Amino acid sequence: MIFKPNPNKFKNATFNNMDEYNELCQKFLNNYEGTWSQIAKENLDWLSPYSKTLDSSNAPFYKWFIDGKINISNECIDRHLNTKANQKAIIFEADDGTSKTLTYKELHREVNKCSNMLVNEFNIKKGDRVILYMPMILESVISMLACTRIGAIHSVVFGGFSDIALRDRIIDAKAKLVITADGAYRKGKPYMLKPTVDSACENIKDIKICAVKRNNENISWDENKDYDYNKLIQTQSDKFDFVQMDSEDPLFILYTSGSTGKPKGVLHSGAGYILWAKMTMKWTFDLQPNDVYWCSADIGWITGHTYSVYGPLACGGTTIIYEGVPTYPNDSRCWEIIEKYKVNQFYTAPTLLRLLHKLNSKGALNHDVSSLRILGSVGEPIDTNSWLWYYESIGKKECSIVDTWWQTETGGHMITPLPNATPMKPTSACFPLPGIEAKILDTDGNECENNKKGLLCITKPWPSMIRTIYNDDKRFVSAYFGDATYQEKPVYFSGDGAYKDDDGYIFVTGRVDDVINVSGHRIGTAELETAIQNHHNVAEVAVVKKAHIIKGESIFSFVVLKADTDKNSLKSELNQIIKKEIGAFAVLEDLAISPGLPKTRSGKVMRRILRQIAGNEEVSGDISTLEDPSIVKKLQNVMND
Ligand code: WT7
Repeated sequence: MIFKPNPNKFKNATFNNMDEYNELCQKFLNNYEGTWSQIAKENLDWLSPYSKTLDSSNAPFYKWFIDGKINISNECIDRHLNTKANQKAIIFEADDGTSKTLTYKELHREVNKCSNMLVNEFNIKKGDRVILYMPMILESVISMLACTRIGAIHSVVFGGFSDIALRDRIIDAKAKLVITADGAYRKGKPYMLKPTVDSACENIKDIKICAVKRNNENISWDENKDYDYNKLIQTQSDKFDFVQMDSEDPLFILYTSGSTGKPKGVLHSGAGYILWAKMTMKWTFDLQPNDVYWCSADIGWITGHTYSVYGPLACGGTTIIYEGVPTYPNDSRCWEIIEKYKVNQFYTAPTLLRLLHKLNSKGALNHDVSSLRILGSVGEPIDTNSWLWYYESIGKKECSIVDTWWQTETGGHMITPLPNATPMKPTSACFPLPGIEAKILDTDGNECENNKKGLLCITKPWPSMIRTIYNDDKRFVSAYFGDATYQEKPVYFSGDGAYKDDDGYIFVTGRVDDVINVSGHRIGTAELETAIQNHHNVAEVAVVKKAHIIKGESIFSFVVLKADTDKNSLKSELNQIIKKEIGAFAVLEDLAISPGLPKTRSGKVMRRILRQIAGNEEVSGDISTLEDPSIVKKLQNVMND
């Protein structure tokens, strides 16, 4: 099955056929650094030029655009003021359907005021860390951009994380300030955030909390450490000269799950990140003047960073920020928003498509969604059914589907169709973008033959790559380059499995490490196990993933108990603990009370076996290394009970 882009939908796209794509790829092959340099010169506003494009002398700690000076809020705001001062930069759609917009001129004023507030009221300086624990409101974007304007490093923590998870991140980042909101609205009702921040900050010395009043619910207020955003902002000047930053100065930290219990603070730096956010926004989403673009991701995740905020604003586009959920007041909300604002590009996750497909959301029939040109998918593999539903029912067989593969660590898209060039194959992310060298390698570092599954690796550095794990250079090297340093140059290992078909199309099959992808959210099995271990009756636990019809993957836990107990009440107790330690979005779907775990003689739990049992699959592969092979049968019996 191959679907060709519909050229009638496109005017002035960067790539209009595969020859144009191949030509730029070839240019990179001939002159890698020179081509990156040309793109960087043409697309960014250098306050002072760089002296060298790429420094690989301390690989894998690559540096890009050495000595260059830049400011990311200038890239996103100031440089558009001459031509787009009165164009909408952000459209805010509230839960209740009301909306507010900020033009580039207004955004500039708000960001300046917020920058002044950060400096004058909180003494935030270049390099300081500021945590944002925010709903999807305008002030969240303003705060992110104000941090970049003054050179502070923001770390947005998704509002679904618990107080304990938030606290870990505040401490790890050694943050001076948390910006939050009293709460916001979801499904017509107010919900709260500030109480979680209060509890997260308990006994952290010198931390300050600044809260936007969004829903004006009653919240506790401590005059010693709580600050009222709305009040403070009023008295700030709306002028602020952005700070000149070095290309490699850190831009933000974003925590993500890995294979140990401790989340990784993925660190991105400014110039390389914004370059790729901008280029991919142009290439993958073909952002044209007057387009209205909507990415439904929360700003707490990398998709919200790169494709709700930085990418669209760096391109001078109009981006929608939506406060609510896709199914309120009914399952047509997304199509309603698309009709209301005449959205041209819609970017979302397969989990939402599966849900809306299942609900048989008729909205796309009852609403005029003909403004759509490009439909994006991200976060997990998309199944053929959802792909076809997206293409036929939403896109009316006229829109291009861009199944974009990338990660928190890559900063921006790596493998994706180009909307007016790439013939699409459903479920394939297709080809690497020009400048990106992706290979599928076996464990010895050799390229896999076609149709053979291997490890998805990136074999050359790219500008928006992760610079390190905050305060943990060693873990950075071992997590991403450890197993794959077999070639002369370090190879970045993504943690995903993939294969190439005979036409060179790449199919990403999912994580091969101990990370579960629940509705496009990464959750480490080790984090879950650490949480579950807190239950007084749990002797041992192992968590694995299981396929889930809506969520993609779900959490399956095997526990060995100290004393017998009722399974249902145990499950809800464990879910309470997970909610407290991680957040409510990480729900334990299945629980098996097990007589033991399948371990090797050295005590290592063989998760492969547990995954097979959880999925009701036959247990295949070698089980002779098990200390007690009879455990397999016993576990299968538990499943059949
Ligand atoms: C992991 C990264 C990238 C932004 C959202 C998630 C999975 C992402 C795809 C895709 C198959 C995908 C991978 C990846 N993933 N996009 N198009 N097809 N899998 O960011 O939390 O850093 O997760 O999401 O497993 O490693 P993230």
